[in-house]
Amino acid sequence: MLLPNILLLIGLCVVYALAQPTTEDYEGVAQPRIYSPDSQTLDYVYHNHDEMTRFLRATSARHPNLTALYSIGKSIQGRDLWVMVVSSSPYEHMIGKPDVKYVGNIHGNEPVGRELLLHLIEYFVTNYHTDPYVKWLLDNTRIHILPSMNPDGYAVSKEGGCDGAQGRYNARGFDLNRNFPDYFKQNNNRGQPETDAVKEWISKIQFVLSGSLHGGALVASYPYDNTPNARICRSSALCAMFQSYSSTPSLTPDDDVFKHLSLTYANNHKKMSRGVACKSAFPAFEKGITNGAAWYPLTGGMQDYNYVWYGCMEVTLEISCCKFPPAQELRRYWDDNQLSMIKFLAEAHRGVQGFVIDASGIPVERASLKIKGRDVGFQTTRYGEFWRILLPGVYKLEVYADGFIPKEVDFVVVEQHPTLLNVTLQPGKRSDGPHFRPFVAPPHYRPQPERDQGIFSSISNGLNGLYNSIFG
Ligand SMILES: *[C@@H]1O[C@H](CO)[C@@H](O)[C@H](O)[C@H]1NC(C)=O
Ligand SMILES: *[C@@H]1O[C@H](CO)[C@@H](O)[C@H](O)[C@H]1NC(C)=O
Ligand SMILES: [Zn+2]
Repeated sequence: MLLPNILLLIGLCVVYALAQPTTEDYEGVAQPRIYSPDSQTLDYVYHNHDEMTRFLRATSARHPNLTALYSIGKSIQGRDLWVMVVSSSPYEHMIGKPDVKYVGNIHGNEPVGRELLLHLIEYFVTNYHTDPYVKWLLDNTRIHILPSMNPDGYAVSKEGGCDGAQGRYNARGFDLNRNFPDYFKQNNNRGQPETDAVKEWISKIQFVLSGSLHGGALVASYPYDNTPNARICRSSALCAMFQSYSSTPSLTPDDDVFKHLSLTYANNHKKMSRGVACKSAFPAFEKGITNGAAWYPLTGGMQDYNYVWYGCMEVTLEISCCKFPPAQELRRYWDDNQLSMIKFLAEAHRGVQGFVIDASGIPVERASLKIKGRDVGFQTTRYGEFWRILLPGVYKLEVYADGFIPKEVDFVVVEQHPTLLNVTLQPGKRSDGPHFRPFVAPPHYRPQPERDQGIFSSISNGLNGLYNSIFG
């Protein structure tokens, strides 16, 4: 009797300690502005890492049935990479229901997404009991929100800095959105702690849908970001310059789905779908969407990695022409993006979902699945679950698992609701059938020592660097 009481007491103390704001851990020496994590409404200002941490802790303490706070790791300078889950089941995966995510601030000097994600958290928890749509979304989805993937970069960024690269990189100078394994080309950039934490995270939770928030443009940009053709520019600086201004699209087999997801964001946004250029020298994007490589190709991006390795459909959302606009504009950004941010996540409930089980009803983990004609595969979870976002139409699902006879199943997807599809596999000899991406690492994805790539390559990299720091 005594022991449980003591444990309870310790537990309460920990919860209390976590929920209490501390005053001694402000960054720098400047007098902190008045910030009360207990106020019921989040203010429209930029929150530094400690303020953000306090907001997240206070919110999770106030809404224990709707939120859970965890850290996926630390930045180089030791800041936690916080993830807030918002769901009616914050602590446990709901079997059969999708997990989705938003990642903000991968570029430290693009913090509008970081703030909007805090507002999204606040919006969800305060509207759950009154807004049936929010309740439906949180009852049927686990939403994981990483407001800042690059808190060190944010700490050295400057409010009002619309262009430029100060704060874009992590504390070792790496661009985190060029730091992932790449399907098309070998990526020689050494893996950074922030990237490693995200890779580990998405290997543990099977995310169905994801948005990565950036600034510096106004467009929803979808995979692929890289292209097999970009390699030709290793031999000619002229080629690199030409390519920067006339890139060709690099389309996935799920191009219809990616266009749809991008349009869902753009069309629900107050301005994005108008496709107006941010500045006269900048590109204008028809309907507010673009293929990533058609805009400009890049190696090591996060969205291609999510899609090719884990079957997670990620879209890059560029939500502000100015990378770090003044705080007084944040309310307008929230108004512009609020509906988009919510409607985009709901798209996880479109397409096909179900379970792969064996003849006795036991779930089959790591079965390889593919929609026929779409050669990027995905896998079942430990509960045998799978999800795939698809537009209305007639499809064939191919299922392979070791020890079972491969199976093909026809199904139909309609607009109104996801198609529920259970697949029962019969035992068979070890399958040597096709293995789908991402389960076989592409041939070029081998860690190799860095080589001197020659003068033309550095010129080409220089151009890319220039281009990259202009846009988000
Ligand atoms: C959380 O849920 C439990 C069980 O349904 C309920 O008893 C409790 O009052 C809820 N707490 C809050 C803060 O809503
Ligand atoms: C599919 O399988 C799951 C898990 O075994 C089960 O809960 C569900 O009722 C099944 N659905 C259909 C439509 O058979
Ligand atoms: Zn960016």
